[in-house]
Amino acid sequence: MIRIAAVGDVHVDKDVVGRYRPALEQLPDRADALLVAGDLTRHGTVEEAGCFAKEFGGLAVPVVVVLGNHDHQSDLQDDVAKVLTDAGITVLECSATVLEIKGHRLGVAGAKGFGGGFAGACASNFGEREMKDFVGTTEDISARLGEALRSVECDALVALTHYSPVPETLVGEPLEIYPFLGCYQLGQAIDSAPTALALHGHAHHGSERGRTPGGVPVRNVAHPVIKQAYNVYQLLSDAVDMELAHA
Ligand SMILES: [Fe+2]
Repeated sequence: MIRIAAVGDVHVDKDVVGRYRPALEQLPDRADALLVAGDLTRHGTVEEAGCFAKEFGGLAVPVVVVLGNHDHQSDLQDDVAKVLTDAGITVLECSATVLEIKGHRLGVAGAKGFGGGFAGACASNFGEREMKDFVGTTEDISARLGEALRSVECDALVALTHYSPVPETLVGEPLEIYPFLGCYQLGQAIDSAPTALALHGHAHHGSERGRTPGGVPVRNVAHPVIKQAYNVYQLLSDAVDMELAHA
């Protein structure tokens, strides 16, 4: 059994440092790895990245993250990623990593993702150059996430994004903003590989549980949704229907 702790949208700045640390210090007793689903900072500054690294770095379990839209706000996403990497945190962007955990290989493929909407209510790659650029970004990121997922050789595969791959975990948000919270192409990417679990954030007012059209369990781990420092999900357990257990 592999235990995965996950949270997103922690939006760390100076005033947040210390808020998560007591729970994070207990991670080794509760989980084998921590995945963070983007919006690590408020405005994507190097200083805020340093605060995140201080709060989430140096833990006794591996920490894997993707960036969110907030982490791009200052156009310093590469600098932000370097601060995190220097602190021993793995940053994924249309890429994957494999963690050796208790004799099992946990594969994590991650991408920020992008908006675009869902079946029957989505932007299409048509018309103005600006619209084609928007949807082109959606399609490009999703295709590269799919490639990353399919490239991993592991015993349990997790997809980590900031934007949502399904509309179910957005329930609670205004319908009008669904196209800015996720896209169906991410769900297609997740379904193109033997993904066991998909984690995302971004939708602070959404719902925790959903499922891709292909049946992959999806969990919105945005901090305002899970209302605790992290949730813990179990993979490769004997639980009936691979249901994901909470700690
Ligand atoms: Fe976000």
